[in-house]
Amino acid sequence: MDIDDLTDNIKKVGLLETLVVIPSGKRKSYYVISGNRRLKSLISLGYTKTDVKLIDVEKKDIPLFIISYNRTRLKKATTLLREIDILEKFYYTSKEKKNGLVTNAELIKGDKRKVISKRIGVAEGQISKLKTIRKIKPELLEKIDNDEISVSQAFILCERHKQEDESITKNHIRGRKNSSTGRVNIFCKSSTDMSEIPDGKINAIITSPVFYKLRTYSKNKKELGNEKNVEDYISNVCDTMDECFRVLSKSGVMFVHLGDTYDDKGSLMNVPHRVVMEMMERKPFILRNTLIFKKTNPIPNAVETRLSTSYEFVFFLTKSKTYNFNHIRIKSKTENKGTSAPYHRGKQGGYSPYLSDGKKNLQDYLDSEMIDIISSPVSNQIKSKKQFNLLHPCAFPQGLRRSLLALVTPNLTPNNTIKKMSDFHLCEPYMGVAGVLLDGYSIGMSVWGYDTNSNYTKAVIKEFDRLK
Ligand SMILES: C[S@@+](CC[C@H](N)C(=O)[O-])C[C@H]1O[C@@H](n2cnc3c(N)ncnc32)[C@H](O)[C@@H]1O
Repeated sequence: MDIDDLTDNIKKVGLLETLVVIPSGKRKSYYVISGNRRLKSLISLGYTKTDVKLIDVEKKDIPLFIISYNRTRLKKATTLLREIDILEKFYYTSKEKKNGLVTNAELIKGDKRKVISKRIGVAEGQISKLKTIRKIKPELLEKIDNDEISVSQAFILCERHKQEDESITKNHIRGRKNSSTGRVNIFCKSSTDMSEIPDGKINAIITSPVFYKLRTYSKNKKELGNEKNVEDYISNVCDTMDECFRVLSKSGVMFVHLGDTYDDKGSLMNVPHRVVMEMMERKPFILRNTLIFKKTNPIPNAVETRLSTSYEFVFFLTKSKTYNFNHIRIKSKTENKGTSAPYHRGKQGGYSPYLSDGKKNLQDYLDSEMIDIISSPVSNQIKSKKQFNLLHPCAFPQGLRRSLLALVTPNLTPNNTIKKMSDFHLCEPYMGVAGVLLDGYSIGMSVWGYDTNSNYTKAVIKEFDRLK
């Protein structure tokens, strides 16, 4: 209750709970240890006297009594954390005693956290969430106190931040940085120069460049996405896009996944569209669709003055009007499951554009048949860590990358210029943990990947070696 409501309440029904006081040490003087707000209300209502409960406690026990008396009050996150800190010092376990960590606190039996949780009337899980938030993103505590964000939402943001941080700092892997043998071509270098690939060699590019000012992928301050001006970022991305134009075959297809950024004033910057405009200014790309990638599990919004961001863009570009695209295949998949598709639901283990662990097919991701919205959860970082022993802050979501791959995977019919799958060359110039290349490889394609971060290229090469 806020203090005005409390005053109003006391005016209507009187004081229901007496104040609790302890002697201050001076004659006829007391400290209120429970009911300071009630006291304020009483004073503002003109009371000069009230009943109190006088208790006598040792000085060291005072914090414990304050916390216990205020157990049922609705407390702010910062207050709770203060109470937790006090109690952690107040109690000690026999193990701590053995280690000599004890001052004049109170010995308890069993789990200290359980005892504290009982004392302050807050679940153990909530206590550990609050402590994590204080450690990782203390600025969120104020937002929780002001009811702008819940403890659970703040905790999710912290977990995400932790994982992103780990992906940069802890992934020191051994292994080769580059590998170019057979169907696998991985290079640890900037994709602004893909001179390893001859002109027109690539049949499809499916890529997700670094978004402007959203994440860091390395300790390099000059990293793409960190540019001071958005114009510089656009120009740097487009240097790679120029290379993409060069390596893409005439009948090739390209998908570029991009998300937008808010500027300091809180305005969206339209970065994705500005990138694609610049791409088309520099090279004669044809923009066939602007797809929406709808996240089914968007990050909770910490801001209450606008809606949560739940989608990103995928630009579908080609070099000419005739190109390889699988409209028919997907249609026939609904009419006659699996006949035209070489890889279909449940039949194939491992990676395939139609499958997500054998349970889903493309139609499960496309909002309805062949419209320009793809729905999928954002990728599960823990899964990616299990697969590559490596975290990536924003690996391509499985539903998105497989839907896009399915749209370009060729049918190996006698009329097709591509006679065997290994003649199909797939490229990802900002490869990360290479989800899309691994998918392509597992159905027989030749793959080309670039990343400036050697942790990613090493982990990806290892994963390809495992699959070979
Ligand atoms: C948005 S992530 C792409 C994630 C990827 N699609 C996946 O599924 O893991 C962008 C990646 O581009 C890499 N990168 C940044 N600048 C680069 C550059 N100039 N050339 C190649 N890769 C770059 C980053 O290290 C990061 O892994």
